[in-house]
Amino acid sequence: MRIFSGIQPTGRKHLGNYLGAIVQYVAGQDRGEAIYCIVDLHATTRPYDPAELRARVHDTTALLIAAGLDPARCILFRQSDVAEHTELCWLLTAVSAFGELNRMHQFRDKSGGQRELASAGLFLYPVLQAADVLAYRAEEVPVGEDQREHVELMRDVAERFNARFGETLVVPALRVPQVAARVRDLQEPERKMSTTGAGEQGTLHVLDDAEAIERKFRRAVTDSGTEIVRGPEKPGVSNLIEILAAVREIEPGEVERELAGARGYGDLKQATADAVIARLSPVQERYRALRDDEARLEATLAAGAAKARAIAAETLTDVRERMGVGSPR
Ligand code: TYM
Repeated sequence: MRIFSGIQPTGRKHLGNYLGAIVQYVAGQDRGEAIYCIVDLHATTRPYDPAELRARVHDTTALLIAAGLDPARCILFRQSDVAEHTELCWLLTAVSAFGELNRMHQFRDKSGGQRELASAGLFLYPVLQAADVLAYRAEEVPVGEDQREHVELMRDVAERFNARFGETLVVPALRVPQVAARVRDLQEPERKMSTTGAGEQGTLHVLDDAEAIERKFRRAVTDSGTEIVRGPEKPGVSNLIEILAAVREIEPGEVERELAGARGYGDLKQATADAVIARLSPVQERYRALRDDEARLEATLAAGAAKARAIAAETLTDVRERMGVGSPR
């Protein structure tokens, strides 16, 4: 089983990234050949600062290793180090329709009212993401719920490529976690937790200290009831139950049973804060030990890129051949 996923080096990673994606990456190392990519090229599709981008790649590399990725047991690399991604992105535009890209939710949301000024890169973002996965002929893509549309698109692109040029690419399957596939903002539980456009109090960062974690959960928006159960009319409480269940690796129903006798939401908030602190503090400690050794982080990424390139290059040879591009084999 070959597993591939990508993560942006933008902003600070939050609990949604951790529970929706990073925990699955770590588990993927035991389930198959796991390949993880820090997608710096995707980060250039929106306004950014070049020096900061480099720093954020180091932050993200250190965080992923601190969270449990072991570069000896997975391939961890930086997207821009493997030029095959951008080449395949261009080649796949031949089987990607303008209309479908124009309808993607992310493009609609992120270009906002500024559609005419949005970068062409933002428009092509899903094609580069398809190239990321298809270059490795990965069978499975572990992501949070918000990436469902992108994975559907890459499946369509792969199928269309195979139909037009002959069986070449693997159609990958989506893998979202059972619990916490869509962690919600703590202040506005009707929206997902996210780094862009959200307030500081609603977003719980993986590197937040214990005091901040306690405060954010204590002030989390719930509802006027007292019952600790999940339900569509209780997005805030449902979110806390799911977070607690995911962090403790138990079923949400078990959390509901355990806290059935609690005195209101205070107990749920405290239990969630305690569990998140216990889970994240060793990650934070390892992060601090790793982050400053940038030479070592760069060496890890370079070794990962060499392994990734060897796989992607094979796919590209086949794709070029099928498409009649370049000198014949
Ligand atoms: P990114 O960097 O925005 O997010 C990384 C991962 O975190 C998940 N995630 C969440 N999961 C649960 N609840 C949330 N509130 C939440 N917010 C984010 C995302 O689903 C994702 O899995 N386009 C991708 C990066 C990418 C990629 C790829 C992913 C580039 N190439 C190839 C898979 C395969 C992105 O922006 O992720």
